[in-house]
Amino acid sequence: MIELNQYYTPESTSLALASMLDISNVRSCIELSAGEGALVGPLKASNKNIKFTTVDIDQSNSTKLANLYPNDVHICGDALDKNIGLKNDSFDLAICNPPFSYVDNSDKYSYLLTGKFGTLLSKNKRLRMEVLFILRNLQLLKPGGTLAVIVPDFILNSRPLLNFRRILFDRFELFNVVECGYGSFKKTEAKTYILFIKKVNKSKFSKVVPVISIVNGVLKKNSIDIENAIKTVEKVEPNSGYEIFRGCTSSKLCRESRRDFHHNYSGLENFSNVTYKVYSAELPKFKYAKFNDVLINRVGRSVGDTVILASSNVIVSDCVIVIRFHRASLREAFIENWTRDRADWIKLHVKGTCAKNISISSIKSYISTLGKVV
Ligand SMILES: C[S@@+](CC[C@H](N)C(=O)[O-])C[C@H]1O[C@@H](n2cnc3c(N)ncnc32)[C@H](O)[C@@H]1O
Repeated sequence: MIELNQYYTPESTSLALASMLDISNVRSCIELSAGEGALVGPLKASNKNIKFTTVDIDQSNSTKLANLYPNDVHICGDALDKNIGLKNDSFDLAICNPPFSYVDNSDKYSYLLTGKFGTLLSKNKRLRMEVLFILRNLQLLKPGGTLAVIVPDFILNSRPLLNFRRILFDRFELFNVVECGYGSFKKTEAKTYILFIKKVNKSKFSKVVPVISIVNGVLKKNSIDIENAIKTVEKVEPNSGYEIFRGCTSSKLCRESRRDFHHNYSGLENFSNVTYKVYSAELPKFKYAKFNDVLINRVGRSVGDTVILASSNVIVSDCVIVIRFHRASLREAFIENWTRDRADWIKLHVKGTCAKNISISSIKSYISTLGKVV
């Protein structure tokens, strides 16, 4: 059932998660979105004294778990519901493979979006479920407790969540990472990570976090410099290093020019080069994209689709945003990051229900996060 994101954890990943934890002193463990208990099994096998509390929204899962582990507590309900009967600061360990999806923001989540997290996220129209589950788990842990959470690549590496990571890892200690590689979860192509986070004040901890990669069955030791993952992004001055604008004429007027023009065509392959017939002189009253400009569909079903102009110039309609980079390094950074982030960024930033659209200012904000890197 894809709606509930019921992608259960494969045994190899559950074993990897359990093997990274020191559970000798753990007495209580919470698993939100517990599914059929894939994460519970290996922990039960190594420590019989842990009392588990599981939560799943699907009654058939809660019933299965109650039959399998009758001495533990199994709650059927929405794990993000504040009033589900769980006490804050009360568990030694939290394990979680949350739904990989978005949810519409509402007052219901305001109890999780406090302090800097609130300032950053409370005005967002949509929120990542993984983000909410991380915050909920941390709230439920005792001080000093550990959260082991499985997340998609987007949570650890994307630009849109960079400030979320900065606040999260400034406040809590990320002390281990397991990289599970693409295709670790059947039905999903997502590259996934297991993050091990301690509910402690982070300031005195190491900046380099060990990473174990399990890719195609091969195990490698690595590390990440957490400063890179969380560094305060230095804002690029608006319009420094690039220009951004949209066409100023409707497709109808563009057509009347009797010249080729670029519009929010669907079906063009993302990041492909597009070429148009070249005319010697530009017509007044139209806006033109030029060679190497990045063209992004501003509106419609194909909103956010992105191509590169490979001919010398072309008229653009008002349904297209043009980005003209003056610095090659900024252009490269944009293309590299946009290739990875685009689909998720669109889901977060698209406005309008009938005529879906994105704004120039939101793309400017995105470019500003490329900051110091370039
Ligand atoms: C990705 S599966 C993970 C299941 C299990 N933890 C595992 O690793 O195999 C996500 C689970 O979350 C449950 N779920 C989805 N939304 C939920 C919510 N708001 N509260 C509680 N459970 C939820 C689904 O029913 C599903 O069993």
